[in-house]
Amino acid sequence: SWRLGDFADAAITQIRAAVGKKRVICGLSGGVDSSVVAALLYKAIGPQLSCILVDNGMLRKNEQRIVIDEFSNHFKADLHVVDAEDQFLDDLAGVEEPQEKRRRIGYAFIECFKAEAKKIEDAHFLAQGTLYPDVIESGADKDGPAATIKLHHNVGGLPEELGFELIEPLRDLFKDEVRRLGLELGLPEQLVWRHPFPGPGLAVRCLGEVTREKLAVLREADAIVVEEIENAGLYRETSQAFAVLLPVQSVGVMGDARTYDNAVAVRCVNTDDFMTADWSHLPYDLLARISTRIINEVKGVNRVCYDISSKPPATIEWE
Ligand code: XMP
Repeated sequence: SWRLGDFADAAITQIRAAVGKKRVICGLSGGVDSSVVAALLYKAIGPQLSCILVDNGMLRKNEQRIVIDEFSNHFKADLHVVDAEDQFLDDLAGVEEPQEKRRRIGYAFIECFKAEAKKIEDAHFLAQGTLYPDVIESGADKDGPAATIKLHHNVGGLPEELGFELIEPLRDLFKDEVRRLGLELGLPEQLVWRHPFPGPGLAVRCLGEVTREKLAVLREADAIVVEEIENAGLYRETSQAFAVLLPVQSVGVMGDARTYDNAVAVRCVNTDDFMTADWSHLPYDLLARISTRIINEVKGVNRVCYDISSKPPATIEWE
C-alpha cells in the first residue's frame, strides 16, 4: 500500500493547490466512494469542506447515524443532514411503476441537494466520487442499451447547473484501490467494506408503492440479513446481501391463529463487475437462521424466500 500512501499525499497537495482558500461541497451517501472523497478532502482542507447528506428516508438501518458518527464526531467536518423523508414519501405516494419511482427519487434528490448547497454561500467546488470505471463507462456506451435498462441516479449535470467547479480526486482509481485508500485515511473497515447500495435505496427493494410502514418492515428484515451474514463471516465473500419486501401476502399459522402477512425475499449475490452475478450458495443453516429471525422478530412478515436467480436474466435489484 506504499503506492496509495503516495497517492494520498500527492492528492492532498494537489487539492490544496487547486482549492486555495475556497469552499468545497461534498455529497455523502453512506457509501464507500463518497466517504473516501470526503475523508481525503477533510485531510486536505479541513474546515473549508462542507458535506451534505440527503436522508431520503430510504436509507438502511442506522445509516444516517453511521455517517454522522464518522464525519461529524470523528472527523469534525461541517456536515449538513437534510431530513427529507417526508418530501420523498410524498413524491412517491401512489407510484408503483419502477422507472417512475426512480425518476421521482432522482428528481427529489437533485432538488434537496440544490436547496442545501445554495445555503452554503461561499461554495465554489463540488467534489464527486467518480472512479476510473465510471470515467470509461460515461464515454461511448452512455446511451447504449445497458444504460436504459434502469435509470441509474447520479448527480450528472448538477455541478454545471449550480455553477460549481468539479473536483474528482478518485478518477484514476479502481474500487479496490479506493477501499485501500479509505483505510489509509482512517475510515473504519465497516464503512470501507460496505456492500454497494443503490442511489434510490430501499425504495427499489420495497416493491410497488413505497410507504413509511413498508420501509420500516424492510429495514428491520434487511438488518437481520446483513447481521447474520456478518456473524457467519461471509460478508466480505459476498458482493451484495439484502432483503426485498414483496407486494405479496400469504397465509400462515401462529399458535392457534391464522395469519395473512407479507413475504420477504433474501437476495445475496457474488459478482466481480455487477454486470453478471451468481446467487450466493449460502449454507442452509445460515439461511435457516435468517428466516427464523426475520419471521420471529419482524412484525408483519410470515414467510421468507431465497432468490436463486442469476444475472442475467434477473438483475441484482428487483426493480
Ligand atoms: P442491477 O439491479 O441492475 O444492479 O443488476 C447492478 C448494480 O447497480 C446497483 N444499482 C444502482 N446503483 N444507482 C446506483 O448507484 C442506482 O439507481 C442503482 N440501481 C442499481 C445495484 O445495487 C447493483 O450493485
